[in-house]
Amino acid sequence: MIRHARAADHPAIAATVEAAFGRADEARLVERLRAGQDVLFELVAVEDGEVTGHVLFSRLYADRPELIAALAPLAVRPDRQAAGVGSALVKAGLENAREFGAWGVIVLGEPAYYGRFGFSAETAARVKAPYSGRPAFQAVALEDGVFDRPMLVAYPDAFAG
Ligand SMILES: CC(C)(COP(=O)(O)OP(=O)(O)OC[C@H]1O[C@@H](n2cnc3c(N)ncnc32)[C@H](O)[C@@H]1OP(=O)(O)O)[C@@H](O)C(=O)NCCC(=O)NCCS
Repeated sequence: MIRHARAADHPAIAATVEAAFGRADEARLVERLRAGQDVLFELVAVEDGEVTGHVLFSRLYADRPELIAALAPLAVRPDRQAAGVGSALVKAGLENAREFGAWGVIVLGEPAYYGRFGFSAETAARVKAPYSGRPAFQAVALEDGVFDRPMLVAYPDAFAG
C-alpha cells in the first residue's frame, strides 16, 4: 500500500532511509526539509503494517512561477529492494506531484533507474542549478514544454546542510 506519510511514521521513515543508504545523511535531509517547510508531500510504502519505503517531494525555487519539485530522497528497506516498491513510490509520487500543481520534477540519481519513469538529462539540459550538467541531473516534464526555456533553480537550504 502506498499512502501519504503521517507524523507517527517519522521514526519508521528515518529507520528506512538510514538502512537504505547505510548512513544517516539522507534521513537528516528529510528532517531538515520538514523543518524548513519545503516538503510538498511524503509517501510511504506499507507492507504488513510496516514502512518499507519512502519518497519525499520538495519544492524548488525557479525563476518563474510554475511549481517545480525535487524528488529526494527515495529509499526502500534493504530486505524489500528489487521488488517493485521503489517504482511504485516514484509512479505514485509523480501522479501526486501533478495533482499538487507541479509542472516538472527534478532528480539527482542513477539514469538507468530514473529513465524508466521518463526522467532524462536531456530534459534537464536548460535547467541551471547547483547540481546541473551531470548525467545524474535529470528532469521529467509534467506539463509539456516546461523545461524548453532556460530556467534557473535554487534548492531549499536543507540540501546544502
Ligand atoms: C534505488 C531504490 C530506491 C530502488 O528501489 P527498489 O524498490 O529496490 O527498485 P524497484 O524494485 O522498483 O526496481 C528494481 C529495478 O531497479 C534497478 N535498480 C535498483 N537500484 C538501482 C540503481 N541504483 N541503479 C540502477 N538500477 C537500479 C534494479 O536492477 C531493478 O531492475 P529490473 O527491474 O530491470 O530488474 C532502492 O534500491 C534503494 O533504496 N537503494 C538505496 C538508496 C538509494 O540509492 N536511493 C536512490 C537515491 S537517488
